Amino acid sequence: MHGFFRRAVVYDELSFDLLREVLPVSFSSVFIPGAGFMGSAIAYLIASKTDARVTLYDSFPEAIKKSQASVEKYVKTSVEKGFITAERGEQVKRSVAWTNKLEDASDADLVIEAIAEDLNMKHELFKTLDRVCKPDAIFASNTSSLPITSLAAVTRRSSRFLGMHFFSPAHVMKLLEIIPGIDTDCAVVDQIREYGKSIGKTVITSKDMPGFITTRLGMVLLNEAAFALMEGLSTAEEIDTGMVLGYNHPMGPLALADFVGLDICLHVMETLYEGFGDTKYRPCPLLRQLVTAGHLGKKTGKGFYKYEQKELAACGTKK
Ligand SMILES: NC(=O)c1ccc[n+]([C@@H]2O[C@H](COP(=O)([O-])OP(=O)(O)OC[C@H]3O[C@@H](n4cnc5c(N)ncnc54)[C@H](O)[C@@H]3O)[C@@H](O)[C@H]2O)c1
Repeated sequence: MHGFFRRAVVYDELSFDLLREVLPVSFSSVFIPGAGFMGSAIAYLIASKTDARVTLYDSFPEAIKKSQASVEKYVKTSVEKGFITAERGEQVKRSVAWTNKLEDASDADLVIEAIAEDLNMKHELFKTLDRVCKPDAIFASNTSSLPITSLAAVTRRSSRFLGMHFFSPAHVMKLLEIIPGIDTDCAVVDQIREYGKSIGKTVITSKDMPGFITTRLGMVLLNEAAFALMEGLSTAEEIDTGMVLGYNHPMGPLALADFVGLDICLHVMETLYEGFGDTKYRPCPLLRQLVTAGHLGKKTGKGFYKYEQKELAACGTKK
């Protein structure tokens, strides 16, 4: 009872107390574990918008090579499009470094974790980082669906731990969803909110409940579209057209699920189902079947659609 009451007060403070003093919002050293798709784009975003030194950490040499090429490409494209000057582009490149040693996080002011979406792996990483990093460093996770409070609990800094959920591609998409755990200090939330704005994002805040705001709402639509297809309401194309033309979505939910990866969609639905214990989040059997068959969407060439030479074709799920 007491715990619940205290938590409710914290959330009210997060939403409504706008008078608190906000701490400085610049970080001079940012450490990003996970030099994959999201980590590389977040690194470029921070290097291009601030004067921070940014270090990307990955345990796989191939991932580091790929990440170096990605950052190079982001700089090149931004210079070509006139978003930054060639001189600034060179500065940005010099401010990003790569490492395979977690000890290099020792001087970080802010850590933004973007490794694989696996609770145990993230726990192990944060336990080590907690030993390596300065006690006042802020820890953030870019997880799309894992509980922030659980990640924070393996560290001795749960008051300085929160979710910073960027969207793909992180240097282009305007949204940043921040997720305080139940012990996150309000001043830290304010600081990260201001930091998010300073790097050009519109910031929303969600309580730490399964799927937060965006993953929960987005995935429920994708899962429901899979049910509509399974029940034979229409073809994949027509279901998608309904949402593109009827609701102005840039992409239909089934095409989007293929783009995200059906294994990832299934994993998120399982997290929602388990987290809420509510059957409304049960994963669609068709989604499960496609994953079992290895049809994971665009990355395997087949999901709700078939992908041949970059052309979309219906995959025969039409009833
Ligand atoms: N892809 C998206 O659209 C998206 C959007 C928002 C959030 N996210 C979240 O961002 C995180 C990363 O997703 P991604 O799409 O960039 O994945 P990714 O597979 O492209 O990158 C993950 C990187 O982490 C590295 N890695 C994995 N385990 C590691 C470990 N134990 N130690 C060090 N490095 C490790 C891998 O080598 C890889 O380079 C996930 O938590 C995901 O849920 C993804």
